[in-house]
Amino acid sequence: MDENRYLTFALAKGRLANKTLELLEEVGITCEEMKDKSSRKLIFVNEELKLKFFLSKGPDVPTYVEYGAADIGVVGKDTLLEEGRRVYEVLDLGFGKCRMCVCGPSEARELLKHHEMIRVASKYPNIAKDYFYNKKHQTVDIIKLNGSVELGPIVGLSDVIVDIVETGSTLRENGLEVLEEVCPLSARMIVNQVSMQMQPERIKSLIKKLREQMQQ
Ligand code: PRP
Repeated sequence: MDENRYLTFALAKGRLANKTLELLEEVGITCEEMKDKSSRKLIFVNEELKLKFFLSKGPDVPTYVEYGAADIGVVGKDTLLEEGRRVYEVLDLGFGKCRMCVCGPSEARELLKHHEMIRVASKYPNIAKDYFYNKKHQTVDIIKLNGSVELGPIVGLSDVIVDIVETGSTLRENGLEVLEEVCPLSARMIVNQVSMQMQPERIKSLIKKLREQMQQ
């Protein structure tokens, strides 16, 4: 193994990245450069530990990792399921916990029960498709949206939505409710398949340290 090789991390911008950096710091991995929030830099280096970090949009994290532009990524399980990239999922980091659910007005319960042809709006069309076609064997019309998905049933675009529910307050404030649960979600660590073969000790020892830290 080339001792001078950098290990590169791709982190999903936002809350997950902050939580990940906190966890990495607890196991002695820091990146001072990254703490300067006013910086417009995209990539950060820890020369001493031979590590690089970059932030990207969540859905791009598995792409960077699959192609080997990053060795390791941290991203939500929702994104992993939606993107379906060939990467190793190695660790459930335990934070960013929420649920993927089918939501809508309470009247929509009947439509789900009777397997009617309904319209489903979602930022996650692949997850919605898999749930309705493969698990429920229900034919539905899936409409892709890019955010504020709760608007779907409110303005009459769709009967239900498939979306992330964390506290449930967005649903409550908009007169919607959880109708069915698709799956639980949380932040996951992923690894490039070739990196895992090339630097197994380095990556496995990192996973072990993180796992021990999480159990404390
Ligand atoms: C997510 C999700 C819900 C909301 C759920 O949206 O899509 O809208 O959070 O959280 P809650 O159950 O705690 O209310 P996000 O804020 O990521 O923005 P988006 O609507 O633009 O996707």
